[in-house]
Amino acid sequence: MRLVVKKNYDEVSQMAAIEIMNLINKKPNCVLGLATGSTPIGTYKELIKYYKLNKIDFSKVTTFNLDEYRGIKGDNPQSYRYFMDNKLFNSININKKNTFIPNGIAKDIEEECKYYDNLIESKHGIDLQLLGIGNNGHIGFNEPGEFLYINTHLTNLTKNTIAANSRFFNSMEEVPTQAITMGIGSIMKAKKIILLASGKNKANIVKELFTEKLSTKIPASILHIHADCTIILDEEAACLLN
Ligand code: PGA
Repeated sequence: MRLVVKKNYDEVSQMAAIEIMNLINKKPNCVLGLATGSTPIGTYKELIKYYKLNKIDFSKVTTFNLDEYRGIKGDNPQSYRYFMDNKLFNSININKKNTFIPNGIAKDIEEECKYYDNLIESKHGIDLQLLGIGNNGHIGFNEPGEFLYINTHLTNLTKNTIAANSRFFNSMEEVPTQAITMGIGSIMKAKKIILLASGKNKANIVKELFTEKLSTKIPASILHIHADCTIILDEEAACLLN
């Protein structure tokens, strides 16, 4: 696991966006794994900036998002489809038909999960997966627990995650309690992984991540055994590292 510490959130976002831009310029038909949440918003802003400066062409790029809330339609402003359209896809020249997000309202969830993994395989896997990290160590919605799941699956969100996500909703009761998420295996198959963390509130989990032990209680710890994973932190997120 390669560690890079940048001064602040803007520099973290710039570095992540440059990595993505370089990949697209090298491989115009690459497959990106994308994330939602507050952390990647700056990266998406940078990518839009580079697109407007004619530095990136997204026309042949395919994307797969990590997760989607269960029971929420893509046109609902709380959905991750809506988030991605508004934070990135609507502002670049990507073909929306090549942007994939699990279908949170699929009737047959098991089928949907299999379909999603097969779709990733059919595109020859993810070239670069962008990740955030939850305060509880989750990646995607692979929550801490006794087991980690390999493939895309339906998961119950932990109290900690529901509380963290409630900042985007009017009340705690409105926060979905389930999601479809790519599994740990689906994430680990990505050829390259970049995990971003910013701010003091991530310092504790970042410290735990760097104790260099693998634990299902910290799902992100699996990244220690990925062959090409870069963790980009700002100084605040890195402040408890020695
Ligand atoms: P955040 O979420 O970027 O909003 O902090 C990260 C995550 O839960 O993976």
